[in-house]
Amino acid sequence: MAYVINEKCIDELDGSCVDVCPVDCVYEGLAKRYIQPDECIDCGACLAECPVSAITAPVDIKDPTWAEDNRAFFALPLPGRDAPLDSPGGATGTGPVGVDTPLVAGWIKE
Ligand code: F3S
Repeated sequence: MAYVINEKCIDELDGSCVDVCPVDCVYEGLAKRYIQPDECIDCGACLAECPVSAITAPVDIKDPTWAEDNRAFFALPLPGRDAPLDSPGGATGTGPVGVDTPLVAGWIKE
């Protein structure tokens, strides 16, 4: 199981996690970032960098909601797209995706 970005990232997009990820697997949606679970090597480097504690380590995942949503960002076609992102092999080359999962797009932040 990979590290997961949760709802605290929504509308933050700080990006400190992106800078430290050694395999460039933190992708940018529209209002949130997502970790590609098959590319993540579980190094934990991103965890301490996030200023809003939006990253959860696999051992600390109690509720699967955000793990499933991170996976869905890559495994299912995003709104307005015909095919899933799948495993693009690097967020830098992919660039901002410009869209979020339905869960994030409809999320009302407390
Ligand atoms: Fe990347 Fe390591 Fe986090 S591979 S997403 S910095 S756990």
